[in-house]
Amino acid sequence: MNVQIYIDAIENELEKCCEEFFYTDSSVAQAARYSLLKAGKRIRAVLTFLTAELCGGEWTDKLRLACGIEMIHCYSLIHDDLPCMDNDDLRRGKPSCHKAFGEDTALLAGDALLGCGLQVVVNDNRLSDKSKVKAIQAFTHAMGPMGMIYGQELDLEYENKKADKTVLNNIHRHKTGKMISLAGLLGALDNDVNEEQEKALKLFFENIGLVFQIIDDILDVEGSVEELGKPIGSDADNNKSTFVSLYGLENSKKIAADMTTEAVDAIVSAFGSRAEALVEYTTYLLERKK
Ligand code: IPE
Ligand code: IPE
Ligand code: MG
Ligand code: MG
Ligand code: MG
Repeated sequence: MNVQIYIDAIENELEKCCEEFFYTDSSVAQAARYSLLKAGKRIRAVLTFLTAELCGGEWTDKLRLACGIEMIHCYSLIHDDLPCMDNDDLRRGKPSCHKAFGEDTALLAGDALLGCGLQVVVNDNRLSDKSKVKAIQAFTHAMGPMGMIYGQELDLEYENKKADKTVLNNIHRHKTGKMISLAGLLGALDNDVNEEQEKALKLFFENIGLVFQIIDDILDVEGSVEELGKPIGSDADNNKSTFVSLYGLENSKKIAADMTTEAVDAIVSAFGSRAEALVEYTTYLLERKK
């Protein structure tokens, strides 16, 4: 599987979106471009593309939807790094947006990407009006007060306060899982999936969304700054509730591996050998070092 094709395509399309939707002489736009372009692993975009293919669709039909999710994800990272949130100075291998442009401009750059992510979807001429409504519903749920924002709220509330298993699951499923599930929904949008396949996709994305944050927690302890492009030890510095702080490193790895197996079994049983590429990518997500 060659995900580089997907990554090149999303980079190119994001650049086009910036040309279409941002003024050239705006410093907020410059800050948004700085954080957004040629950066990040693009895993949400890749998951959208792989799911579209799994469901018998064309991945290229999902290019603008993938730009939307990557923009909104990027907004969440800019705000997540602010001094009032995680206070991290490094992101995607360079100074965080607020370090490079100041907090005021970084705040607005995040807001700009939030709005623009939805604007890109509404202006996507590959989608019918009905599909746009469905997509926007999925976006606003995933990013909103019962989605990523709620997870971020709990994440802050449980600094210096121990989350139990149920609360920790709730934090991770919201702050990270909801946006990963969105990638799956966008991939499947407008494609024919039966009830069993829909159920399998739901479980698959819920599991790998949680796993993604478990691995993020692990890498914050045993990753390297050079590979990750962001600080390590940030969670401990902020006294966060994480999988590592609750379960320890080895148990966290086991939970991540078991949840990945369950996710893979579900899509293989619903889609058979067509699930191969997504399964291969899921293995990469479990074993990633950045
Ligand atoms: C980091 O996401 C924040 C989390 C939700 C864990 P990624 O690890 O996908 O960050 P980028 O997009 O590759 O920079
Ligand atoms: C962030 O989780 C989730 C978001 C919604 C951005 P983290 O705070 O652990 O993400 P990193 O480690 O800073 O990328
Ligand atoms: Mg955070
Ligand atoms: Mg953070
Ligand atoms: Mg983290």
